[in-house]
Amino acid sequence: MADEAIGLPPELTKFDPENMRGAILEVPSHVEQGYRMPDSLDLRKMDGKFSAVLIAGMGGSSIAGLLLKSYLEDECIRLDVIQDYVLPKWADNKTLLIACSYSGNTEETLSVFKEARRAECSIVAVTTGGKLEEYTRISKIPTMLLQAGYQPRAAMTVQFFAMLRVLERLKLIPSKAAEVLKLKEDLKNQLQSLEKNAMILSDKLLSKTPIIYTSRRFGTVGYRWKCQFNENSKVMSYNNVFPELNHNEVEGYANTRGNYHAIILRFSEDHRRVQRRMSLTKEIMLRKGISATEIGITGPSLLSKLFSAILLGDLTSYYLALRIGMNPSKVELIEGFKKDLGPYVA
Ligand code: F6R
Repeated sequence: MADEAIGLPPELTKFDPENMRGAILEVPSHVEQGYRMPDSLDLRKMDGKFSAVLIAGMGGSSIAGLLLKSYLEDECIRLDVIQDYVLPKWADNKTLLIACSYSGNTEETLSVFKEARRAECSIVAVTTGGKLEEYTRISKIPTMLLQAGYQPRAAMTVQFFAMLRVLERLKLIPSKAAEVLKLKEDLKNQLQSLEKNAMILSDKLLSKTPIIYTSRRFGTVGYRWKCQFNENSKVMSYNNVFPELNHNEVEGYANTRGNYHAIILRFSEDHRRVQRRMSLTKEIMLRKGISATEIGITGPSLLSKLFSAILLGDLTSYYLALRIGMNPSKVELIEGFKKDLGPYVA
């Protein structure tokens, strides 16, 4: 077992009674599971042309949408993600809204859903139940029902592929089936080495604040890493993107006050000037006493690169949680906060 390779004490698994590791290692099988979900969806009433697609979601459920936006960046589709209460004023009956909430009870997503009903948008929902399912059942809105029992952030892959397939079925994007169907095997083959690398990286992050840097195109990957460090490991973490960070954040190294470790994720798609910026920025950080790890994300397709980078981050945050004695599944502050906020009356 890879644990022994870097000396992770086996008793640390006691911090994972809900088996978050199992949920992360299931990601390859979530690909097809999500992609098949819309097969039985009745979309006949939606054969009109949409001028824009909006995905409403928060936290883990918003990342599926953000990642989709990043993956589809070169396609002719206007796609945006709403992580808020409010639908843009321009949304109308030519807009498709996908309401994505694992629990179905997230107030921001429900608020956008209601505004979209008033604006006569076409709507599709992805959820396990909650109020969202109740509303869509009453209004006969096409809804994909996810399997319950996961933390929402562990269902991100199913949500991503379910939404991707909806866009394909509505002919808003060309079919990605060939790339999707190869992905499961490809990710399965990478799991062992990703897990081993995650254990090694998590060791470097003990007592550090992880900063994740990527190019702008892959900013969502960095954002997922940051959120997983927050939610799984319960540590502060930040992400930022090139080239923009060279115009502001880099100046902050003059007076570094935190104990940071920078993780620079490199993709072959990164612009050559961005590649140079990454190397120079790393040099500055090292000179200023900030440790840094560069990781080249490789894979046979864009999807493969996106999801292997996501898996590496999920696993690193998981092993960091165990090393510092945190249960990676529990999000007590988030849950307590939602309770304190009380019910939302629109
Ligand atoms: C919890 C998590 C959170 C939720 C967010 C929205 O695992 O990842 O970020 O995703 O609070 O909740 P849902 O997805 O139920 O709408």
